[in-house]
Amino acid sequence: MWQVRVAPCGDFDNHPFQSNHFGVEPLAAAMGAEITGVRLTELSDEGIESLKHALWKHKMVYLVDQNLTHAEHAAFSRRLGPFAIDAYTQGTPEERDVHPIIKEADEVTPSLFGGGWHTDSPFLEEPPSITTLRQIEGPPYGGDTTWTNTALAFKHLSPTFQAMLRPLKVWMSARNNFATQEFLRGAAISFGDVTKQEQGLKGSVHPFVRKHPVTGEEALYICDTYAAGIDGMTTHEAKPLIDFLVQHTTQHAFTCRLRWKPGMFCMWDNAATMHLGPNDYDGFRREMYRTTIAGGVPR
Ligand code: SIN
Repeated sequence: MWQVRVAPCGDFDNHPFQSNHFGVEPLAAAMGAEITGVRLTELSDEGIESLKHALWKHKMVYLVDQNLTHAEHAAFSRRLGPFAIDAYTQGTPEERDVHPIIKEADEVTPSLFGGGWHTDSPFLEEPPSITTLRQIEGPPYGGDTTWTNTALAFKHLSPTFQAMLRPLKVWMSARNNFATQEFLRGAAISFGDVTKQEQGLKGSVHPFVRKHPVTGEEALYICDTYAAGIDGMTTHEAKPLIDFLVQHTTQHAFTCRLRWKPGMFCMWDNAATMHLGPNDYDGFRREMYRTTIAGGVPR
């Protein structure tokens, strides 16, 4: 007899982070929160520290009606830490570290930037810690970004499975993503920079279970797009384990979904989440801008 799969329960704790600088309205049971009553451009240094702690707790936080310029987006991002290397995109002419993600209304593509479950650039030795994203223009419906809480997903594994995973190292590489893009487009693609391309394909080996650099919280470092193997295992051993952990982590219970409005701003913690931006709004324009903040080597 097998146990049938039941929805995970227990260990859900998305109660609002308390701050003297802003309000917090949780978005879903698993993760995510709206930050209210503040303009990002007016936060004091203490307010920024408090916002970072709200982010570590809720994993993704967002604010409505911010309407930042590229310069304000860059200036706010710099207060979170130095910029990370962006592995794929080119910045705007005005602000080189503010990267456009734009899909035009008449653009139809088999695969969109960020359209599969992923954590940002885990193939780098030092992947970005935080990503920020804002919307200028969006579809009337569709184009929602969804995140999943990989710390909560780890908590919902049995102690035996957790203990098995802790010593393992996951190999993160862009090679399967590259091959898929070439297959879908029927043509060779490139990162646009040979060194970045070589680094992306070679990838990096990271702990499968990482400890958050600030809170010490354990989270799965799993990625549907970039996890390409497990150190010391054959493909046939590693693939079912990676597939199971992607399936486990992306189940509905651990996620939250953001319906964007122009002027919104959001940020997420790449050490404890995966996310995706779906390719479901053909016929509408979506104009977004993002920055990534440097992170250290995952431990
Ligand atoms: C991303 O993966 O960084 C982009 C997500 C989105 O466009 O919603």
